[in-house]
Amino acid sequence: MVLCEGLVHIYTAADLEVVALQGLDLEVAPGEVVAIAGRSGSGKTTLMNILAGMERPTAGSVWVDGRDLSRLGRAEQARYRSEVVGYVLQHAMGNVAPYLSALENVQAATVSGPARDRGRRAANLLARLGLGDRPGARPGSLTGHENQRLALATALANRPRLLLADEPTAELDTAGATQLMSDLTAILREEGTGAVIVTHDPQVESVVDRVVMIRDGRTSSERRWVEREGELIHDELAIMDRAGRIQLPRAYVERLGLGGRVRVHLDDDRISILPVETDQDE
Ligand SMILES: Nc1ncnc2c1ncn2[C@@H]1O[C@H](COP(=O)(O)OP(=O)(O)OP(=O)(O)O)[C@@H](O)[C@H]1O
Ligand SMILES: [Mg+2]
Repeated sequence: MVLCEGLVHIYTAADLEVVALQGLDLEVAPGEVVAIAGRSGSGKTTLMNILAGMERPTAGSVWVDGRDLSRLGRAEQARYRSEVVGYVLQHAMGNVAPYLSALENVQAATVSGPARDRGRRAANLLARLGLGDRPGARPGSLTGHENQRLALATALANRPRLLLADEPTAELDTAGATQLMSDLTAILREEGTGAVIVTHDPQVESVVDRVVMIRDGRTSSERRWVEREGELIHDELAIMDRAGRIQLPRAYVERLGLGGRVRVHLDDDRISILPVETDQDE
């Protein structure tokens, strides 16, 4: 569904260059629900804008649903945005029209089908996202949290193949975030919609397939729950790029005082990384 390889994105503002993505790799299978986490400034929104077809990468490749996003023409790009993806922007109010009611917002986002079907779809989405009793409310009279839910309903209205949501749980406490994510993933699972969701909340891990960590514009590690011998185990994996580069967990690097040159040893079935001093002491 999604395949990013060596994605690089550089913003140029005045004479300043900011490298937001520096060789990011990411793969998302059809129907898979992936969370993206990482510190502020690590490149999450930049990645989402690229996946949404709103920003072209400076270098590297990005494919979604069989389309090479770095080569889409203007018309194809517009079609891609309205038919393939649904995007919830990081700041909720940008996602909805203030002069339309909740129901009208969701209905307006559907591009095809008879009005009655669109109305039914919109009402159904509002109900499943907990806004079933507020169809006539305008965004201005909804809370930030309700607007996030409305934005999600709007993004899902068109049955996108891929939902992109940038911090839909930002305004929520942990309980609220977990509730929202489970309401959302229930819809995604039922409709077979893949999703990339940016979130800071570790609680969402229980409802998504994987959590991908971004560090300094690269995917650095991945967490997921796996079943081993009947038990659910929290598994954390580092991500190696094609050139064989990996980012070691910061805590490990600090613990051994690694930096600059290190010694890399190949044993039968493992590779060890040692501080240079340790090796000389032997
Ligand atoms: N339009 C822009 N012009 C110049 N620099 C930008 C622009 N947008 C983002 N950046 C810079 O690119 C880097 C990545 O920003 P991005 O918004 O992708 O991070 P983020 O992970 O989404 O952060 P946050 O968690 O705060 O939303 C940052 O250093 C940011 O300052
Ligand atoms: Mg962001």
